Amino acid sequence: MTAVDPERDRSPIVSLAQFEPLARAVMDPAAFDYIAGGAWDEQSLAEAEEAWRRRRLRPRVLVDVSHVDPATTMNGQAVTMPVAIAPMAAHGLAHPSAEIASAGAAAAAGVPFTLSTLSTESIEDVAAAVPDGIRWFQLYTQADPRRSRRLVERAEAAGYAAVIVTVDLPILGYRERDLRSGWDLAVKHGNFPDGRPDHASHRAEESGYDLLQDELDRALTWADLATLRSWSALPLILKGILTGEDARMAIEHGLDGIVVSNHGARQLDRAIATADALEEVVAAVDGRAEIWVDGGIRRGLDVVTALALGARGVLVGRPILWALAGGGQSGVERALEILRHETVLAMTLLGARRPDELTRSHVAG
Ligand SMILES: Cc1cc2nc3c(=O)[nH]c(=O)nc-3n(C[C@H](O)[C@H](O)[C@H](O)COP(=O)(O)O)c2cc1C
Repeated sequence: MTAVDPERDRSPIVSLAQFEPLARAVMDPAAFDYIAGGAWDEQSLAEAEEAWRRRRLRPRVLVDVSHVDPATTMNGQAVTMPVAIAPMAAHGLAHPSAEIASAGAAAAAGVPFTLSTLSTESIEDVAAAVPDGIRWFQLYTQADPRRSRRLVERAEAAGYAAVIVTVDLPILGYRERDLRSGWDLAVKHGNFPDGRPDHASHRAEESGYDLLQDELDRALTWADLATLRSWSALPLILKGILTGEDARMAIEHGLDGIVVSNHGARQLDRAIATADALEEVVAAVDGRAEIWVDGGIRRGLDVVTALALGARGVLVGRPILWALAGGGQSGVERALEILRHETVLAMTLLGARRPDELTRSHVAG
């Protein structure tokens, strides 16, 4: 893989969108499509960014905006801006330094990094390489609860500060791009070095799709969350909530946070855009837990819109992998720097000096 250094590219990178063509140029087409793609007709994918762009802002003027700072907290932890890196499988597809580079960039930027259950590098290796940053662990619950428990215990022992349980993947969405290319995520999975423990074969490279399809706990319900919580002292956050009903259930079950997400439109196509689902969830939660949102966040304008609608923070997915493919750790650092710069600008022009000054009245409708 030839790394393209965005810093040396002739035209300066000034938006997250510019990383995608850089990544396409250096990546295997099937791997690129795995990352870029959504489920079925990709209708929700097409709508994800658009749903943010549709919103109109209501700026307030004559506010002293000589000092604007997007720093806040997420999960009670100090962050330099309300943005975290979303959990994504197999960063090694984008760059050989994989999660070590992306977690390193997050730490350098002062934002949290979420490690996927299906990461290229292991829970422990990422922690050892990036000891200082804020790290959260994303759990795909396994059919054998002892395996889930082991993953949670490993994450806690290695200093991860939250467990984010993904609840919108009881089964893999219908991903036509992958079906056509034959892609099955047969790559290194650092957390499963010997393949599945119940497997006779000890392959270093297990199909990630097999791991998901065969090993996921499809019977998981609200009643199981208490057990999951008992495995560690870490805050438990649910990722993949799109309705007020489920948000209320999450609160009743004592969850510490909610990620409004449709899994980057990779699961149920025609699922509501997260920009449209957010307010319903915010109303249902009524301040009782932190709400984060992901899906199609590409601009500082999206970040301020999400916060004005009631989110505490946002998660960013694909652009991080494009930046990683295009420029390794410095590419991801650049992506985060652009997002921070855009967020500060948008806050300044809206008349909001701190994230908590962004209110519902800053968005029309
Ligand atoms: C290549 C790729 C892999 C992903 N892997 C995971 C994962 O392992 N666990 C998870 O909870 N979400 C996963 N997601 C979903 C992201 O966490 C996030 O919800 C989504 O990408 C946000 O949308 P965006 O890409 O438009 O920013 C993945 C997304 C992509 C693009």
